Amino acid sequence: MSNSLDRRIAAELEQFRATGVEKRLNYLESPQGPRVRMEGRGEVIILSSNNYLGLSNEPAVVAAGKRGLDEFGAGTASVRFICGTFTVHRALEAACARLVGTEASLSFVSCWNANEATPGTLLGEDDLVISDQLNHASIIDGIRLAKAITKCQTAVFRHADLTDLDEKLTAAKDRRTRMVITDGVFSMEGAIAKLPDLVALCRKHDAILVVDDSHATGVLGATGRGTAEHFGMVGEIDIITSTLGKALGGAAGGFVAASAAVCDYLTQRARPQLFSNALPPTVAASALAAIEVLEASPDRVTRLRENAAYFREQLNALGFKPLAGETPIIPVILGETAAAIRMSEMLLDEGVFVTGFGFPVVPQGQARVRCQISSAHTRDDLDQALAAFRKVGTRLGLI
Ligand SMILES: Cc1ncc(COP(=O)(O)O)c(C=O)c1O
Repeated sequence: MSNSLDRRIAAELEQFRATGVEKRLNYLESPQGPRVRMEGRGEVIILSSNNYLGLSNEPAVVAAGKRGLDEFGAGTASVRFICGTFTVHRALEAACARLVGTEASLSFVSCWNANEATPGTLLGEDDLVISDQLNHASIIDGIRLAKAITKCQTAVFRHADLTDLDEKLTAAKDRRTRMVITDGVFSMEGAIAKLPDLVALCRKHDAILVVDDSHATGVLGATGRGTAEHFGMVGEIDIITSTLGKALGGAAGGFVAASAAVCDYLTQRARPQLFSNALPPTVAASALAAIEVLEASPDRVTRLRENAAYFREQLNALGFKPLAGETPIIPVILGETAAAIRMSEMLLDEGVFVTGFGFPVVPQGQARVRCQISSAHTRDDLDQALAAFRKVGTRLGLI
């Protein structure tokens, strides 16, 4: 029996299908890795995973998760302050803080939750939060929620435009707290935030800088400590949010890393902490092991950088014009959403899984396929993927 809502959204879904913008879920029958077994397809090369360091199926990471399950069971069965928190959460939080170079950290079930908690808990009616135009959806929604909950003022500055930010901060000199939020690495472009300029501007205006390093933790800097390490500025970002669901094991979870005062205050007041369960201990134990593997083998980060540079260079040599950059996120802009989805399907027919992104994830007319490289890719994996790009690019008249 369908109701009026079912009928309305069924019509919309039909429209997605008719216009070629429907997303399809591909089911994997093997762990995440540079090559996976995809249901109905067999082996495919993955070029669209955030498994940047190949840690999601690393034996030490998987074994730690199993030990976590044995030691602590399935979970806390309630929120942390009500019925206790596991020692593995404390160990994980110490490791996250150590990795990114802050005094403390607090874990959340996702970075989405961490981003939702940050402005909504730390700001009030007398404050202002300013967000880069291209920030991740979790930051945007976190700010919308903060505005609704706290009545703080909000503003957006043009992407990476320090002049615009300077003007907006100048206009906000009477606010009690000015908070600036930016992605460390912008996930759809692969661009790195201009951290030295942002830190200088925030200092000039006595503003708090929040950096979401979800695509930078484990990726940027010589040892994977993130955007701050990339610029030689570890310890200079006020608040870092990041995910455990990408380079650090890939399961789930996120954290806020900051001063002990900020983390303690979030423990007291952040609604996703007060009204939602903690990370499952399996996940906390796996993420902790992932950090330890990274700390013991920073050569993974070097390999990641070399793989990304090779793939970018070879795509250029084939005649594609990926967005320039230094990160393992390598987007090829195609224009219309349907074109990106079609190219992604053609690549999958050639055994390469690269997702096509269109509106509303990226602006209208800037749909793209986005390649993401891992340290676990071999030259053979990358060369096979490049051969598929050459074949599909030629058929589509792109090269
Ligand atoms: C920049 C950024 N922030 C936050 C998130 C959300 O992370 P999580 O999956 O841990 O909620 C993502 C995930 O796509 C992201 O790319």
